[in-house]
Amino acid sequence: MPRNRPPLPDPVSLLESPPWRKKVRQKLLRWYAGAARDLPWRKSRNPYHIWVSEVMLQQTQVATVIPYFARFIDQFPTIDSLAVADEEQVLRLWEGLGYYRRARQLHRAAREIVATHQGQFPSNPTHVERLPGIGRYTAGAILSIAFDARRPILEANTIRLFSRLLAYDGDPRSAHGQELLWRAAEILLPRREIGQFNQAIMELGSLVCTPRQPACGTCPLRSLCPTFAANLQDEIPKAARRVQYEEIHEAAVVIWRGRKVWLRRCVEGERWAGLWDFPRFPCQTSDKEADAYLVQEKAERQSQSRLGNLRQWTQMKHGVTRFRIQLTVFQADFLQESSIAEGTNPTASESRWITVSQLNELPLSATGRKIAQQLSKPPVAQRKNTSARKS
Ligand code: ADE
Repeated sequence: MPRNRPPLPDPVSLLESPPWRKKVRQKLLRWYAGAARDLPWRKSRNPYHIWVSEVMLQQTQVATVIPYFARFIDQFPTIDSLAVADEEQVLRLWEGLGYYRRARQLHRAAREIVATHQGQFPSNPTHVERLPGIGRYTAGAILSIAFDARRPILEANTIRLFSRLLAYDGDPRSAHGQELLWRAAEILLPRREIGQFNQAIMELGSLVCTPRQPACGTCPLRSLCPTFAANLQDEIPKAARRVQYEEIHEAAVVIWRGRKVWLRRCVEGERWAGLWDFPRFPCQTSDKEADAYLVQEKAERQSQSRLGNLRQWTQMKHGVTRFRIQLTVFQADFLQESSIAEGTNPTASESRWITVSQLNELPLSATGRKIAQQLSKPPVAQRKNTSARKS
């Protein structure tokens, strides 16, 4: 039963009030001057650094991004150095951050910047928005933070902050919600210090105006916030529909040829496009015994070899986007090359035989890395001996 609540102000009338907007800007900028975190990409206004950080921060928490950002900038200090790198090197540095498409697009965009802008990050919004992987939000963030351009931003933190600040109780993901919130992001921009303002709204959203139990007691905007006045922080913004997770079963095979294992590079359209992986395929059921024959046939097809001694080895679970993957890992021995013609193999891609220690140099799928880690552990008997000696 929805409880009775006092009427909320109309979001548009709040936005149309110049004194209200002025107070929001002043209070926010003053708060940010004292509360801004000392983050590595805030040490300069280098557009390349800001660009890398914004791409990493898409769908990833600040604390996770910090070490990745440091390693990335250390390895690729300039757009030119990123542009000449191999995609594999870029993906290896990105490994663990997920959403690898971001890294591949960043790399492609660096090449475009070298080809068309002499390696200088463009300040023209049209040029920026044309770069791979840069949408309205990322363009606005880079242009405002690096060049102080008057460009609005809207992302998860500011969607929540603006929804509460305007007491918008509709769905912020709807077309109407998006239009209103982008409008708010635009009309609230100050005349100067635009980059600071945009960072301040994200900072407030991330540190104070949090999804659950926001710290309204310390919020610089609480006297201007109708959601706080009505104590509706738990109801605004309207919750998104729960993600429906899908359980999927997959099998992977570690194929041995002497001391080497076989890996393939995932092709465009696959979940781990650009990364390396052991042969892997969906199975219809978790009953792996029944599947063994199919697993062998599919692994033979992918690796174009005949296999023997297929044995179930381990199982692992992994969540990626809305999928919950249950992976059964087999091992098998290479017997001979098979005659399956290249053209009949629908998953033909780059492939390699490599030693377990060389797996460290390749960007691997998340479960590929877990498999690699298990392969590089000493056998159990040896581990027991080692620990016995220590004690
Ligand atoms: N999330 C995305 N971009 C950010 C930034 N520049 N500062 C804080 N949080 C962010």
